[in-house]
Amino acid sequence: MKGFIRMANDGWEQGWHERNGGNLSYRMKKEEVEAVREELRTDGEWKEIGTSVPKLAGEYFLVTGSGKYFRNVILAPEDSLAVIEVDETGERYRICWGLVNGGRPTSELPSHLMNHEVKVIASGGRHRVIYHAHPANVIALTFVLPLKDEVFTRELWEMATECPVVFPDGVGVVGWMVPGGRDIAVATSELMKQYDVAIWAHHGMFCSGEDFDLTFGLMHTVEKAAEILVKVLSIRPDKLQTITAQNFRDLAVDFKVSLPEKFLYEK
Ligand code: 13P
Ligand code: ZN
Repeated sequence: MKGFIRMANDGWEQGWHERNGGNLSYRMKKEEVEAVREELRTDGEWKEIGTSVPKLAGEYFLVTGSGKYFRNVILAPEDSLAVIEVDETGERYRICWGLVNGGRPTSELPSHLMNHEVKVIASGGRHRVIYHAHPANVIALTFVLPLKDEVFTRELWEMATECPVVFPDGVGVVGWMVPGGRDIAVATSELMKQYDVAIWAHHGMFCSGEDFDLTFGLMHTVEKAAEILVKVLSIRPDKLQTITAQNFRDLAVDFKVSLPEKFLYEK
């Protein structure tokens, strides 16, 4: 709970969460659920998730509430957050704790849970955090770069030597879609099979990770690279020099990461 609150507040301080922008979810460990079992209600009404996540049957999540402000999480977590339980079919959830003044989990619950389901499988259960934010520089780039995974990945990698080490699998891009429903959840979770980062054009970004530090750090690294790229493009549209495809291959050897060749195309 402390880690979740700190991450929400850190995101607010970065300027990524205007008003109720963004949402965060954490898949609780069995022992964490047991540790707070006495606090969990079992009389909540079962509600439709709006999609199906059978692999998450019986799991508990700590999530931000819909319409809640990240800047308020630290003041009254019991008002802004909820613990929810997914039922045995993976079709419904109920509120077990929090949202004491009413409300419901984030409108992006279908995307959060479908991403969690994909990541449970892809990471062998290690990934527990899904984070959605509205960072300005990444959003700005979705107006000027082609909405292609290869282009975003390569351009962001070039902005800081550590980038390909932090997100060696690259980033995926979803073209503009109506948020808050199953369709965008399906498109995003499809990308999450290969990437830990999915950019929503003209909207924001989703990151997945094992814990709060890694997931926040991933969002921070991608947005910092985007900020550098916005500055570079603002100073002059054509770079005078950059990190080359061969530089990336050399880096991959020394840092023991494998960088897919599809991102190392000749320009
Ligand atoms: P919620 O307030 O429902 O979490 O929505 C915020 C948001 O960023 C939607 O994409
Ligand atoms: Zn959003």
